[in-house]
Amino acid sequence: MTHPPEKSPQTVWNAVDAYFSEQLVGHDPVLDAATADADAAGLPPIAVAPNQGKLLHLLALTQGARRVLEVGTLAGYSAIWLARALPDDGELLTLELDPKHAEVARGNLVRAGLEKVVEVRVGRAADSLAALVEEGVEPFDLVFIDADKPSNPEYFRRALELTRPGSLIIVDNVVRGGRVADAGSTDPAVVGTRALHALIAAEPRVSATSVQTVGSKGYDGFTLARVVS
Ligand code: SAH
Ligand code: DHB
Ligand code: MG
Repeated sequence: MTHPPEKSPQTVWNAVDAYFSEQLVGHDPVLDAATADADAAGLPPIAVAPNQGKLLHLLALTQGARRVLEVGTLAGYSAIWLARALPDDGELLTLELDPKHAEVARGNLVRAGLEKVVEVRVGRAADSLAALVEEGVEPFDLVFIDADKPSNPEYFRRALELTRPGSLIIVDNVVRGGRVADAGSTDPAVVGTRALHALIAAEPRVSATSVQTVGSKGYDGFTLARVVS
């Protein structure tokens, strides 16, 4: 007896993500155009998936967020999802190293009608975060960390300085195919993400969990940390 070829896990994950997004997220011309412009400009296809973008949106709404900080803008895809959860007087500040990414993002944010709500700040996120702490800005209600993974511990420490009890800190890409569980890894992204977990484990000011995800972005996951004191 012959069997049909088995579908690869990724093929199944893609089909399920497409199904969920079709049912619950839908198509949005502004978001689709943001993705198209990112692709046309040659940016890497690493934005959050549509159903993940909506998760960020729902979390921002659940937070009642008025001020959101994002580390890692790319083309502004996740920024659009987050900014659409904000009230009229809300603000999203997103930090990006690459001026070309920032330029594409600004175009996408203008198309989304969000240019008054979102500021894209170009530079090393570590420098921008230090400057924000120095300025003593009003605390953020939600922080989304999604830039260079080796710097995750530094970004998380800065996020703690820039939030208040009740704020939510989300970190993307904390699983990376399961490599995070490899204590012997020398991959700087894995080392950074393991250092992030050690930091959080020893940090009494947050209550946190990490969850594994599969989907169109492969096998990965998020850390969610609520600032409790
Ligand atoms: N949050 C985006 C994806 C971000 S991809 C979305 O889901 O739509 C990661 C981004 O972080 C890239 O644009 C990259 O240029 C940026 N980045 C990398 N290193 C950085 C650094 N040191 N400071 C600021 N941004 C950085
Ligand atoms: C990469 C970065 C991301 O933020 C992501 O969500 C997926 C992949 C990367 O650098 O490969
Ligand atoms: Mg990411």
